[in-house]
Amino acid sequence: MSHILKIHPDSEQVLGEPVTAEIFRFDPEVDAEPRMQTYVVPYRYRMSILTLLREIYETQDPTLAFRNQQCGRGICGTCHVRVSVNGKLTKGCSVPLEPGSKITLTPASRAKVIRDLVVDF
Ligand code: FES
Repeated sequence: MSHILKIHPDSEQVLGEPVTAEIFRFDPEVDAEPRMQTYVVPYRYRMSILTLLREIYETQDPTLAFRNQQCGRGICGTCHVRVSVNGKLTKGCSVPLEPGSKITLTPASRAKVIRDLVVDF
């Protein structure tokens, strides 16, 4: 978590039930149709959607595409994704997750998908 200046001692601890994330996957160069892929991820201290995606990328699936070069503080807006709870467009770095959360993530705009959660601005 390079965007955090001071690492909290609990930041690497697994706390509570894992998070289940169903994530939109589509590579227009390979896939005929989009699909959803489910990941079960250990819940860690102060986990957000952005840190969830980083955890998946680093520990489970390096083929998952999302914008990772971001501020992590709700300023730049490049982490926009749609979250299943209300279908609203939201900044992934600003949405805290709870232990045992079940979420569905889709790209900010399906019409502009470059790959998975990455869209053309
Ligand atoms: S990472 Fe910049 S607003 Fe979310």
